[in-house]
Amino acid sequence: MNIHIYDNAEQIAKAVGTMIINAVNEKPDITLGFATGASPVPTYNFLSKAYEDKKVSFKDITTFNLDEYCDLPKSDKNSYYSFMHQNLFDRIDVKEENVNFLNGNAVDAEEECRRYDALIDSKRIDIQLLGVGRNGHIGFNEPANKFTKGSFKVRLTQSTIDANSVYFDENPMPRYALTMGTVSIMKSKQIIMIATGKSKQDAIYGMVHGDITPSCPASVLQLHPDVHIFLDREAAQRL
Ligand code: F6R
Repeated sequence: MNIHIYDNAEQIAKAVGTMIINAVNEKPDITLGFATGASPVPTYNFLSKAYEDKKVSFKDITTFNLDEYCDLPKSDKNSYYSFMHQNLFDRIDVKEENVNFLNGNAVDAEEECRRYDALIDSKRIDIQLLGVGRNGHIGFNEPANKFTKGSFKVRLTQSTIDANSVYFDENPMPRYALTMGTVSIMKSKQIIMIATGKSKQDAIYGMVHGDITPSCPASVLQLHPDVHIFLDREAAQRL
C-alpha cells in the first residue's frame, strides 16, 4: 500500500486530481470508477476546474459508480446519480451515454447486478476512487463474516445510516443499496482511496495494520498490487 499523508483535504484533492488528469491525458478513453460521499468532493472540484481551464478533456472516458440507493428515484437530490451530476458530470464534458450506475430501482436486483458486472468486465476499470466508512466499508460492502464477490443488494448497517442520514432532511434514508462487490472493486487496475478526519482513524488503522478480514472490508486492499491511500493527519493518526 502506498500511503500519502497531507495537511488538509485541498492538498489531497490537488494530488489525487493531478494523478487522474495525468492518467486521462495519457489514455483519453480511460475507464474511471467513482465514489460519492464527502471525501472525493474537493477532488471533483479540482477536476472540474482543470476542465474549465482546458487542462484536460473527459469526452472519451467511461465511468462506473460504486453504488446507488434502492427505492429512491434517480431524480431525488440524494440519489448518487444526482450527486455525481451536481458535483462532477454536469461540470465536465463526459458523455452521458458513457456514465454507468447501478439502477437501485430495478425490479430484479440480481439481474441488474449481473448486467453491471458484465459491463464492468467488458471495460475493466483503470482507476477506482474509494472512500471508506467509519466501520471500514468500501462501496457499501459492510462488515460481514465473508467477503462479497460481484455487485449485490445490501442492507445498510446502523453505522452507515447514522453517517449518511444527515443528508436526508425530510424523507428517511433508504435502508438498502446496490453496490459493487469486493471482487469487482479489486479487479480495478489501480485503486485510490481518500480519507480525512478523526472519525476514520480506526478504519484506517484496521485497513493498513489489521488482519485481512471481512469484518473490516477495506483490509482486503492489502492484497491489491497498486493502491494509493491519501490521508490527512487526523485520519492517519493511529498509523
Ligand atoms: C460512496 C461509498 C462509500 C463512501 C464512504 C465514505 O459511493 O461507496 O463507501 O465512500 O461511506 O463516505 P464519506 O466520504 O462521506 O465519509
